[in-house]
Amino acid sequence: MSYDVSLVRKDFPILEREVRPGVPLVYLDSAATSQKPLRVLDAMRDYNERHNANVHRGIHTLAEEATALYEEARTKVASFVNAPDRREIVFTKNSSEALNLLAYVLPLGPGDEVVITEMEHHSNIVPWQLACARTGATLKWIGLTDDGRLDYADLDRVITDETKVVAFVHQSNLLGTINDVEAVTTRAHAVGAKVVLDGSQSVPHLPVDVAALGVDALAFTGHKMCGPTGIGVLWARLELLEELPPFLGGGEMIDIVTMEGSTWAPPPHKYEAGTPPIAQAVGLGAAVDYLNELGMPAIHEHEAALTSYLLDGLVAVPGLRVIGPRTTESRGGAVSFVIDGIHPHDVGQLLDESGVAVRVGHHCARPACLRYGIPATSRASLHLYSDTNDVDALIAGLDKVRSFFG
Ligand SMILES: Cc1ncc(COP(=O)(O)O)c(C=O)c1O
Repeated sequence: MSYDVSLVRKDFPILEREVRPGVPLVYLDSAATSQKPLRVLDAMRDYNERHNANVHRGIHTLAEEATALYEEARTKVASFVNAPDRREIVFTKNSSEALNLLAYVLPLGPGDEVVITEMEHHSNIVPWQLACARTGATLKWIGLTDDGRLDYADLDRVITDETKVVAFVHQSNLLGTINDVEAVTTRAHAVGAKVVLDGSQSVPHLPVDVAALGVDALAFTGHKMCGPTGIGVLWARLELLEELPPFLGGGEMIDIVTMEGSTWAPPPHKYEAGTPPIAQAVGLGAAVDYLNELGMPAIHEHEAALTSYLLDGLVAVPGLRVIGPRTTESRGGAVSFVIDGIHPHDVGQLLDESGVAVRVGHHCARPACLRYGIPATSRASLHLYSDTNDVDALIAGLDKVRSFFG
């Protein structure tokens, strides 16, 4: 099931570059965005060089080719997450847009409740805050335990008969925690609420099967799964997409338009107003092919082993505290940490001198940082192409950071 990571790395030309003469790049910021294999770059270049046209509108050859490539990408994405029907895949700009779309169209009103968690990315907080402000619904959230898990004991108290939507992250970008989707979904469905899963950090790293998970909608984003920026995905049950109102209006999403009013195209086009990100969809399709060839179980296995190696290395650094689960049990390869007496921004800047790219800040999950009493963390995050040399370089870089600060 495993693959040779040294061969895989050759597919990613950027991993061979130096950040300064003699200082090779050590890329440990894949939770922010992943690198793209040649396959994806080639697919987008080929599309633009040979097939570029607008989709769904023309009858000339290029328009038909472009439409076929765009729709083929939809089919690939649908089977990647085991969607029962390819019409359930809506292409958006990114995860944030997919989550905003849902927050805009799901019916809410005064007295209704929306439940999120304290470990959400801002993209799964702010859209619901806006929706509640607009509709008069109330936002509630499930708290966290000291070791970076959801407080499942809180589920029955927070999710009530008034709950209409439960929206939560599958794998946290700050803590690395992988949540128990079944536990939350079972409780949410017991009160008749719709379940929205933020798969931005899970779809790129582990097998995700929407049919098996039993959720009602899933959002994910191309650029974290070896695809391009500018494309994201909303998967939702077909009957939901059929019955809910449109989000954005414009070309492509209509059936008939008169000056008096309009009717809507069936899903997915109802939710794809205007010219879609065509080259990006083609690139995402190529990324899905690439992930499938390595195999999501193998990717997950590789990353789990490397996460264990990373955690072992980090906890041995004096004065370092991991924020989030300290074992690989239900956790992915985004590992946040703080070092006594050294600000994360200094850690990030000094690591960059060693060529090591990590992310510092609140990682768009400020409420979770506040929960753990810290303004910011440093975060090292892995992907399918990361290896033990990357981790060794990080640990060596942290030694330099510590000696710099005496
Ligand atoms: C858990 C999670 N949700 C949502 C997002 C938003 O993704 P995008 O910026 O591609 O919309 C991110 C990005 O970091 C994320 O990590």
